[in-house]
Amino acid sequence: MSRDIFAPDSVNPLCQLSLEQLRRRTSMKWRTHPEDVLPLWVAEMDVPLAEPVARAITDAVALGDTGYPAGTAYAEALAEFARKRWGWGGLAVERTAIVPDVMLGIVEMLKLVSGPGDPVVVNCPVYPPFYQFVRNLGRPIIEAPLDTEGRIDFAALEDAFGHGVQRAGRPVYLLCSPHNPTGTVHTAAELTHVAQFARTHGVRVVVDEIHAPIMAAAASFVPYLSVPGAENGLSLMSASKAWNLAGLKAALAIVGPDAADDLARMPEEVSHGPSHVGIIAHTAALRDGGDWLDAVLSGLDDNRRLLAGLLAEHLPAVGYEPAQATYLAWLDCRGLGLGDDPADVFLQRGRVALSSGVDFGTGGAGFARMNLATSPELITEAVRRMAAAIA
Ligand SMILES: Cc1ncc(COP(=O)(O)O)c(C=O)c1O
Repeated sequence: MSRDIFAPDSVNPLCQLSLEQLRRRTSMKWRTHPEDVLPLWVAEMDVPLAEPVARAITDAVALGDTGYPAGTAYAEALAEFARKRWGWGGLAVERTAIVPDVMLGIVEMLKLVSGPGDPVVVNCPVYPPFYQFVRNLGRPIIEAPLDTEGRIDFAALEDAFGHGVQRAGRPVYLLCSPHNPTGTVHTAAELTHVAQFARTHGVRVVVDEIHAPIMAAAASFVPYLSVPGAENGLSLMSASKAWNLAGLKAALAIVGPDAADDLARMPEEVSHGPSHVGIIAHTAALRDGGDWLDAVLSGLDDNRRLLAGLLAEHLPAVGYEPAQATYLAWLDCRGLGLGDDPADVFLQRGRVALSSGVDFGTGGAGFARMNLATSPELITEAVRRMAAAIA
């Protein structure tokens, strides 16, 4: 696609940047692979910054407001966003703490409620850094696979919790809600069951809710801390996925009333990690970026429909269930006969970069994850390349 024929859509943020503009980016998505590869892998979005976010950063730079963070503006903005978007008025600003990003926030929450050697239960297939960060912290992983519908399998969870309790005193359940890579949105009933189940087994729950703002039209997000029984839960939220702010480091740890004492033990120096400008950006996104987000969500609904149609036409052997949340598409490529790592075949033969399913743990072999936070043109081109790769 050349710039000459590129006609930006003034409403849909996913349609505003040409491939030529995107290739000038220096972030991981655009610099990991050579120029002939179309990158639809890591969770970055092909959007310009939301205008209120860009303005807040520009104002901070103009003022030289680039010192250390102070205050609770980020938590206040998230509390208001949660009240308006999810009808949840229970986010207590006094039970929040700023952390550098969601993954480092998870590490800090795990340190608060478990010790070295205590196991961490995850629902595989799941976001690969869950394995890396947790193991690097000296906590073994116990996998509790999702069921065939991509939902929490309570029998598998019971097994995992049983193992955890046998192995050590303080097991933790690291829940991904909504789930990456399947986009599963856990229901209030499921989350209530999780809370009760965890209490019964003496397991603490740390929940990664980074994708919460990115919901499909028909789905609604339920914050874990809003369900009965979750009062000792610990959550991590951030504006970074929904507004593409991963390069502007900041996130929030939020805990229920029975975990307030745990959060109080978080070392003060952890709050020195997030960037002040990052917090300004995240706060502006949550406070004033709602219209922009709605435009992205509507574009993502279109992209999921588009992908379903393209796959049905060009790659009918690929299984795809449009997700209820996230901008990720989890593609079941087992019917193509490409082995455990179809993403590698698409990369080598098709010059399109998807995330490799094997990295997502048990249940990921034969799958690939596609990032739909891009334009319909690039999704169409990616499927064309994938089909050509196996023709
Ligand atoms: C489930 C999940 N958690 C955490 C992250 C990373 O968040 P952060 O950059 O704030 O650590 C991602 C990024 O894609 C994610 O999908």
